[in-house]
Amino acid sequence: MLLRTRPKPEIRLKSSGEIDAMARAGLAVGTTLQRLKAAAAVGVNLLDLEALALESLAEFQAKPSLLGYHPAFSQVPYAWATCLSVNDEVIHGTPRKKLLRDGDILGIDLTANIDGWHADSAITVPIGQVSPRAAKLLKVTEESMWLGIEKARNGNTLGDIGAAIQRHVERGGFSVLKNMCGHGIGQQVHEPGLDVANFGRPGAGQKLQIGMTFCVEPMVAAGRGDMKHRKDDVWAVLTKDGSLGAHFEHTVAVTEDGPRILTQVV
Ligand code: MF3
Ligand code: CO
Ligand code: CO
Repeated sequence: MLLRTRPKPEIRLKSSGEIDAMARAGLAVGTTLQRLKAAAAVGVNLLDLEALALESLAEFQAKPSLLGYHPAFSQVPYAWATCLSVNDEVIHGTPRKKLLRDGDILGIDLTANIDGWHADSAITVPIGQVSPRAAKLLKVTEESMWLGIEKARNGNTLGDIGAAIQRHVERGGFSVLKNMCGHGIGQQVHEPGLDVANFGRPGAGQKLQIGMTFCVEPMVAAGRGDMKHRKDDVWAVLTKDGSLGAHFEHTVAVTEDGPRILTQVV
């Protein structure tokens, strides 16, 4: 047996008051995503969507969590509020001078906090008229997120979530990205101890408990699930085969009454 080089990270369970605090940030995130979805259209510049996100968050007195955020997995801090990922960019595309075109799909990922409590959510939206295959990719990816969220219950495991997502995605003829996962969230954007893979076996992995808060976020390729980076871009994660990629995400709490979605606007 190998010695652990690091102690098993402690998972920070949240009280119902803390979950309410996260839901306040979640309302700002969810509402802002809806506004961005409404604004995303043929001819719109990605930089205008970033500006709209900042304006909308300010209205809620919410702070953009990713602006200046330095994740452990990167060499450099992130410099924007949103991640905007077009077509074969699955996640972490950056706002840049680029006009959306008819038939594109656009991933919009937004993380914000109020009083230091974070919420994180993403959608992928069609721009103009998209191909039937693109439309199916968006539908199946979103459905897989809902099936995963449904498993976020006391006594279930992370494997139950991953298995539900993977099964639906693969039945749809698509692939999950195996190297990327959801994450614990709270007073940090990425909290250790809760890696929510988009694949797995039912009953396997970390047991879920009341008070856990994490992001369920399927990242799906229309083709194969291998990823790559561009030479000149440390951020965008692209499909290796150039196929379309989609991403949906909600921040979820495990509560006595089942999964509570903190980033949903109702
Ligand atoms: N919102 C992303 C997530 O779902 C994180 C943003 S990428 C970062 O985990 F580099 F800015 F962290
Ligand atoms: Co996110
Ligand atoms: Co996330």
